[in-house]
Amino acid sequence: MRGMSDVGVALIGTGFMGRAHSNAWRQVSAFCAPRLRPRLTVICSRSRDRADAAARAFGWDDAATNWRDVVCRPDIDIVDVSTPGDSHADISIAAARAGKAVICEKPLANTVREAERMLAAVERAGVAHMVCHNFRRVPAVCLAERVIREGRIGTIRHFRGAFLEDWLNDPAFPLVWRLDRKQAGSGSLGDIGSHVIDLARMLVGEIAEVSAIMETFIRTRPLPSDPTRKGRVTVDDAAVAAVRFVNGAIGSIEATRFAPGRKSSCTFEINGSLGSVRFDLERLNELDVYFESDPPTLRGYRTILVTEQAHPYLAAWWPPGHIIGWEHTFTHMAHALLEAMADGVVPSPSFHDGVMNQRVLDAVERSSQTRRWVRVKGAA
Ligand SMILES: NC(=O)c1ccc[n+]([C@@H]2O[C@H](COP(=O)([O-])OP(=O)(O)OC[C@H]3O[C@@H](n4cnc5c(N)ncnc54)[C@H](O)[C@@H]3O)[C@@H](O)[C@H]2O)c1
Repeated sequence: MRGMSDVGVALIGTGFMGRAHSNAWRQVSAFCAPRLRPRLTVICSRSRDRADAAARAFGWDDAATNWRDVVCRPDIDIVDVSTPGDSHADISIAAARAGKAVICEKPLANTVREAERMLAAVERAGVAHMVCHNFRRVPAVCLAERVIREGRIGTIRHFRGAFLEDWLNDPAFPLVWRLDRKQAGSGSLGDIGSHVIDLARMLVGEIAEVSAIMETFIRTRPLPSDPTRKGRVTVDDAAVAAVRFVNGAIGSIEATRFAPGRKSSCTFEINGSLGSVRFDLERLNELDVYFESDPPTLRGYRTILVTEQAHPYLAAWWPPGHIIGWEHTFTHMAHALLEAMADGVVPSPSFHDGVMNQRVLDAVERSSQTRRWVRVKGAA
C-alpha cells in the first residue's frame, strides 16, 4: 500500500553510485524527515544476477533489467540515473517524458548538446530535476556558502579549487569505462573537475572564460577482459584551467587522477577583501576561516568543527563532535529533492546547473585544443 506521501523511486545502475544512492534513499526518512517518503521500489541493472543481488543487498522491493520499462511504471515517481554518462540523456529524457522527477549523476551528460536536450525535456514535462553534485550538500561547504553570502569575507577575488586523486598513477591499471571518451565524455575533467566547477559556480558565481591545458600521460592500458592486450585511452588524465568569473574574481581549477598520495582531495580556498575560507573533502567535517576583522594579535586561520546543531544539516544527525561522512552528502541530496518536490519547486543543483557546468567543461576542452581563452556560452 502506498500512502499519500509515499513516492516510488527507481534507481538505474548498481555500481559505486548505485550503492551510495541506495544508502541515501534508505536513510533519508529516518534521519532528515522529508515530507515525502521514498519507497525503494525498483533497482535496475543490465544483468539479472546483478539486479537481483543489488535488490537483496540494498533493500529494494523489485529488480529489473530494462530501464525503458522501469521509467514508465505507474508506481514510480522519481528516476535516479546512476549509470555512466553515455546513458544519462536517454534515460533522463525518457523518464521526463513519462512524467517522473529525475535525479541524474554528474557530469550531467557527455556533451553540451545532450545536456541542453535533457534540460529542455525536464522543463517541457514540468518535472523536478537535479544533478548529483553532492559536495554542495557537505555541511562545511554549506557553511562556507553562508559565510560568503553574509559578506563576512567581503568581495571575492580568488577561487583556488582542485580535485586530486591517484588511482590511475599505476600504468597497469586497466582500461575501465572512465578512460573511454564514448562512455565517459571526458576523463579527470568531467569526472572530478566537474565537482570543482560546481563548487566554484555555487560559491563564487558563473565562470565567464577559461584558459586551459589538458594532458594524457599514459596513452594505452591493459584491457579488462584480456590484460595481455592493450587499448587506447581516449580521455584526459589531467586538466588545469585559469578562470575568470563574471563578477571579476579570478581562479584556478585543477583535476587529476595522477597525484600520488591524494585519494579524494577536493579542496578550495576562497580569498575575499575581508577574509578567506578553505575546505578539504578529506577532512569534510572541518571548515577553515580567516577574518581580517580579528584583533591583530589573534589573527590567523581557525578551524571550525562543523558538527554543531546550528550548522547546516547537523541537527538531523548526532550530538556535537560526532562526525558524519561522505555518504551523508547523498542523503542530503535526496532530502533536497524530496522537499523541492513537496514544495513544487526546482531543487539545486538543477539540470540548468548541469548545462552550465557542461559548458565550462566544453570551454576547457576547446581552450586546451586551441591554446586560447574561450568564453563560456550563456555565462554573461
Ligand atoms: N557524485 C559523485 O561523487 C560520483 C562518484 C562516482 C561516480 N559518479 C557518477 O556516477 C555515474 C556512475 O558511476 P559509478 O562509479 O557508479 O560507475 P560503476 O561502473 O560503478 O557503475 C555503473 C553502473 O551502471 C550500470 N549500467 C550501465 N549502463 C546501464 C544501462 N544501460 N542500464 C542499466 N544499468 C546500466 C552498470 O551495470 C553499473 O552497475 C557516472 O556518471 C559517474 O560520473 C558520481
